Amino acid sequence: MRFHVLTLFPEMVLDGLNTSIIGRAIQSGKIGLEAVNIRDFATNKHMKVDDYPYGGGAGMVMQAEPVYLAYQSVAERISVIAETSKKPRVVYLTPQGSVFNQRMAEDLSKEEDLIFLCGHYEGIDERVLEMIVTDHVSIGDYVLTGGELPAMVMIDTISRLVEGVLHNDDSARYESFAENRLEYPQYTRPEEFMGRKVPEVLLSGNHAKIAEWREEESLKRTRERRPDLL
Ligand code: ADE
Repeated sequence: MRFHVLTLFPEMVLDGLNTSIIGRAIQSGKIGLEAVNIRDFATNKHMKVDDYPYGGGAGMVMQAEPVYLAYQSVAERISVIAETSKKPRVVYLTPQGSVFNQRMAEDLSKEEDLIFLCGHYEGIDERVLEMIVTDHVSIGDYVLTGGELPAMVMIDTISRLVEGVLHNDDSARYESFAENRLEYPQYTRPEEFMGRKVPEVLLSGNHAKIAEWREEESLKRTRERRPDLL
């Protein structure tokens, strides 16, 4: 899986993802990450990438041309590397998109290349969005200052579904949202912490009983915290 992020703040994306599990996956080549600076594709001498909105109103709008040129440079490279003429999926991060969830992450994890387009200011000229965007995605019903954090959230979520990124392949399967349930509670040593004991069944060594207990806890937790999932 190769991620290509079109952004005005490439270092934000690279710095944010180059640590821990995702950082290691990048180092080992399990996933690829590049951040392309849209400003590098400005064609005016001030490297300006935004302008006033037609029709008036607050704020500035990102111009179509630099976004299109940044997209084109990445799309051309992808078609050479992947030896395909198939157009890559382009995810535009926007509060006006479908709300991201684990199912969308699984679907997107099947792609070889994914392009993320991060907007700023009051958005991007609609014409270039019509031309290149395949998926409009929001990470929740609230408004952020730009698409970088949402892109990072999506890249993290998708990356851990890519084979070899997590050490234990099982751990991506048996956890919250697998089968639309929240995960059961976990415990580790010591057996007693400030008077609170680890549930007896987990120390029993009876795997059938443990599986049954986890199933019940998982259901109970989902009913209490996320009844909408059931
Ligand atoms: N850009 C600004 N807010 C956003 C959100 N909630 N999701 C995705 N992109 C955004």
